Amino acid sequence: MATIYTRPEEYDLEHGEGEEDITFYRRLIQRFDAHTIVELGCGSGRITVPLAAMADEHDLHITGVDVSEEMLGEARQKMTRLPTGCRTRVQLVLEDIGRFQTAAPVDLVIVPCSTLAHVLELDEQLAVWRSVARSLRPGGRFVVDLTMPTLAAFADSMATPPRVLVEMDVDQESEDGVHRLIRYKTTRYEAHRQRAHVRFLYDRFETRPDDEARAQRYVSDFESHVYFPRELELLFLHTGFEVEHRWGGYRGEALRPHSRALIMVGRTPAPESPR
Ligand SMILES: C[S@@+](CC[C@H](N)C(=O)[O-])C[C@H]1O[C@@H](n2cnc3c(N)ncnc32)[C@H](O)[C@@H]1O
Repeated sequence: MATIYTRPEEYDLEHGEGEEDITFYRRLIQRFDAHTIVELGCGSGRITVPLAAMADEHDLHITGVDVSEEMLGEARQKMTRLPTGCRTRVQLVLEDIGRFQTAAPVDLVIVPCSTLAHVLELDEQLAVWRSVARSLRPGGRFVVDLTMPTLAAFADSMATPPRVLVEMDVDQESEDGVHRLIRYKTTRYEAHRQRAHVRFLYDRFETRPDDEARAQRYVSDFESHVYFPRELELLFLHTGFEVEHRWGGYRGEALRPHSRALIMVGRTPAPESPR
């Protein structure tokens, strides 16, 4: 598992505030009239907490699932800042998403921010889709949120000898200006098994008025499965879902050749209407 998940504060700094996926999930809950919601790979609560903040008003019950104790610890910490009426509607569970199942059927399961890319093997992926199908009520929805494969970024891996380019893809400063995080990224792609070997190199700077700037550098390596749209669709169909939506962005844009996001919504069969 990537090192960044043992450093939740830096994970949050890396992602910044007010990202558009948060608004997307807020709206989606209302659009689907969902009241019981599971977030798989909820992490530090970047999305869970803003959803929890609307729990009392919109009668939501939210379960967040993650394998990282550190990330869940950060999510728990953030929850303490919410009003009691919201906080009591959330539970956080330490569990692998391939094994997690709800006790009672829920309306909606979401898996934001490319978390499913951490699930590498086909049998593990099928286990996730099947346990989600078992957790959902009839007509319930499973929202899978990934990034589109960026073939241009992988092209250098096809060169002989393979090249690995380094790009600086994050440069974020904390609101108080004390912390700055710069991330460099390299990706090596194995086309025959759709596997990306991602290496993040982080430089973390800390500046205090009474102190000299301090820098810390660390590497976070991880492997990632690269999902293609048709493959995603097949995972849904093979596990009994129908595919309701295919979006290429958080505003519900259609999937296009240059879409950055790959978002698919699967739906379990609705109950048969009485004759
Ligand atoms: C990219 S982060 C997303 C966190 C959060 N959903 C967000 O949008 O900020 C991926 C999260 O998935 C968790 N994760 C990865 N593999 C997992 C697994 N097999 N079971 C449960 N959690 C997992 C990691 O610990 C991490 O917190």
